[in-house]
Parts: sequence; structure tokens; C-alpha cells
Amino acid sequence: MTQRPAAPAVFNARIVAISLAAAMGGFLFGFDTSVINGALEAMSNDFGITGFLQGFTVSSALLGCVIGAWFAGPLAARQGRVRVMVIASVLFTVSSIGSGLAVGPVDLIFWRALGGLGVGAASVIAPAYIAEVSPANVRGRLGSLQQLAIVVGIFAALLSDAVLADVAGGAARELWLGLEAWRWMFLAEAVPAVLYGIFALTVPESPRYLVDVGRLKEAARVLSTYTGVTDTAAKIAEISRSLTRESSESLRDLRGEKLGLKPIVWVGIFLAVFQQFVGINVIFYYSTSLWRSVGFGESQAMLTSVITSVTNIVVTIVAIMLIDKVGRRPLLLTGSLGMAITLGVMALAFSQATVVDGEASLDAPWGTIALLAANGFVVFFGATWGPIMWVMLGEMFPNRIRATAISVASALNWLANFAVSTTFPVLSNISLTLAYGIYAACALISFIFVIRRVPETLGRELEDMTNESHSRPSKPTAA
Ligand code: GLC
Repeated sequence: MTQRPAAPAVFNARIVAISLAAAMGGFLFGFDTSVINGALEAMSNDFGITGFLQGFTVSSALLGCVIGAWFAGPLAARQGRVRVMVIASVLFTVSSIGSGLAVGPVDLIFWRALGGLGVGAASVIAPAYIAEVSPANVRGRLGSLQQLAIVVGIFAALLSDAVLADVAGGAARELWLGLEAWRWMFLAEAVPAVLYGIFALTVPESPRYLVDVGRLKEAARVLSTYTGVTDTAAKIAEISRSLTRESSESLRDLRGEKLGLKPIVWVGIFLAVFQQFVGINVIFYYSTSLWRSVGFGESQAMLTSVITSVTNIVVTIVAIMLIDKVGRRPLLLTGSLGMAITLGVMALAFSQATVVDGEASLDAPWGTIALLAANGFVVFFGATWGPIMWVMLGEMFPNRIRATAISVASALNWLANFAVSTTFPVLSNISLTLAYGIYAACALISFIFVIRRVPETLGRELEDMTNESHSRPSKPTAA
């Protein structure tokens, strides 16, 4: 094998098709995490559950995500990326049917947690796979397709919940086959879940995985047909050099001298945790009560949630246009500052709230200010940290540790999500100003973290990623 550097890759349409197929896992991630919104009330009434048990029906899925993410990477390192996609599709399908036909809260919690395993796995495998098949010069754009799919999935779930409730005349009413509308909300997910599995069976395995397991001919075929590499022998030699072949990848490979883990693994973990500690999912999971506090009625509040999810889709498209032009660091920094300011404004607005029976309400002009600030926050998040965190997890680690390192970072992203969304009701009872103030402080700290620790990955080959963390933008190499 030669030691020549690989020839530049040529962008083609096939790579977009297989990235979209992998990003379908993101669609299910978004759909599954939001579908419960529309079903929650009717389902809780049917099963007679309130308080903790109701909260646990929602959060059990997030705990499933932590576990799914944790195991997906090591599994993908051994069994391949495609097999994990197929397993996730089966989990989504079984979970949606089980949840739709659940007889009580206990089995519903079980089915939701099972779906969570699928979401966690999809959140690891989509960024890893897309980064590994993409040419370096468009990797950011293709990687952002997963966040686009997530936000479209959130929107699709809200829409499908609303349509099913509308057709039945209420989420608690019977719709078809003697099943209530809320059950059909869960059952609807089986359609994209099965499609995801079918797509997964048609995509090629990742060339980095194929080289790792010695299937070099197949790797060459994928690199030339999809990634557009002309000198496949040189590229394969480069990938081989970046992998040490003695043992298969495991958690042990993440160990480093300082603080127990390799510096770059810490950077991935902090990116993942900050993405949640700014409180984005408080806006998505508790949006209806947020909009009610700015003076909206029930249906107006639901409509505002839909508008916010559309805003999120639009700004993700902006991110896709910018990411491979301006780079990851400038976008992350802009996002951190913008989020700190908008969250700070929300904290200020809620300091003016009147609280009656534990419900905050805002008078003019603070209601409008809070509404604008909350949407501004979604704009800054959606155009920056939302997609970029997932793109960077896919690309920032060396080949040798990628799948496992993404698993750890992603599992912590889900744990942070769980921590923020379960503590929000408690915090908001103390004070909403305190809650938004904490998220604003996290956004500010994330700014300092990016300046000091996050490397620029724009245009760099995956084979050039190292275990070090440094903030100096490294010279981009030709894709
Ligand atoms: C990101 C986050 C996810 C959030 C979504 C909202 O994908 O990881 O938790 O729900 O953005 O846009």
C-alpha cells in the first residue's frame, strides 16, 4: 500500500441519498421524543395516573435513550453501523405498537423505554455514519441533515398528534378499530420506523468500519461510488494507518493520562452536556405552559408551539448553508452569546411575573418580550448548537475511538436532557427567573469553553483528527 495522501473526493448525489437514509434515524429521534405531548393528557386520564407516575411515563423514554446511546457505539464498532440502524428500526417499530396497545402505565413505561433505546442508538449512529461516508468539504452540511431530520420529526409528531385528535374530536375519543386517538398517535410512528429499516438495508456499510474489519474491496467500492474518492488505495492506506488493529474498540480506548479520559473525549462530553444545559428542551417539552404564561389560551399556545418548531426547521436550513463556509467555532460562539442574551431577557421578563396558584403570568409588555426572547433563543440554538454538536460528535474523534466516544458523549447528552427536564418543574416552582438565569449562565460558560477548548474541524479529513483538544483553528486540508 502506498503512503501517498488520498486524492480529493468528488461530491455526488448518491452520498446525499445515503446520508438522508441514515438521517431518517434523526426523524424518529424527533418524532419519538415529541409524540407523547399530544397523547399525555388523554392517556393519563385513561390510566388514572398523575404526578410522579405521569412524569415517569415521559422521562422513562429519556432513560432508555441514555442506555441505547451507551451501547450503540461499542455495538457499531463490532457489528457495523448498518446493523445498529436495523436494530434501532426494530426497537422503534415494536415500541410504537406496544405503546399504542398498552393496557396500563407499567407496560406503557416499558414500551416507551424500549423506543428510547432506539432513539439513543439512532443519535449515535446517524452522526457517525454520515461523517464516515462524507467527503470532508461537505461533511458539515451532510451531518446537519440529521438535526434537520430531528426538527422535522418534532414538527411531524406535533402535526400528526393534532390531526389525529382533530379527526377523532379529541385525543381521548375513539378513532379507528375501537382504539382512542391517543393510541393512534403512538401507532403512527410504526410507519416511519419500518421505512427507516428498509432504507437502512439499502445503504452501504461505512468504509471506515469495512477497513477496520479487513473488507478492503468493499471499502474501495463504497469510497469510489459514494464518497467520490478517485485514489481508493491511497485512502484505504490512510484509514488503515489511523486504526490500530490489535484489539477491537472498547471503552478502555478512551482512557487518557489527564483526568482519566483523552482530552478530545472531554471536549465531546462538554459539548454534549452544554447543548442540554442551556435548557432547549424546557422550551420544547413545556412549551404549552410557557406560552400560557405569556397570556395565550390552550389552542393559541399549541399553535405557538407548532410555529416554534417551524422556526427551528428554518434556522436549521440556515445552519446547513453556513456550516461548511464559516466553520464550526464561529457559529458555536455566536450561538452561545445569542442564547445567553435571550435567556437573560427571559429571566428578566419572568422576574416581573405575577404568580397565582403556582402559575406565572406576564403583563404587557413583558409577555411579548418573553415570547420574542424564547423564539430568539430557539433561533440561536437551532442555527448553531443544535446541529453543530451532532456534526462535531461525528467528526471530531480519531477513527480508532469514534463509535465508542460518540456513544459516551451522546449518553451524557441524554442524561443531561433527563436532568434538565426533570428538575425544571421543581426549579420553576421556586422561580422561573432562577431557572432561566441558570440556563443563561450555562450559555455564557459554553462561550468560554468553545474559545478555549473546541478545535475547528472544518475541512479536515477524519484521518487527521487527534486525541488532543486545542482551540487553535487548524489549517484545513483539501477535501
Ligand atoms: C438537538 C438536541 C435535542 C433537541 C433538539 C431540538 O437535537 O440534541 O435534545 O430536542 O435539538 O431542536
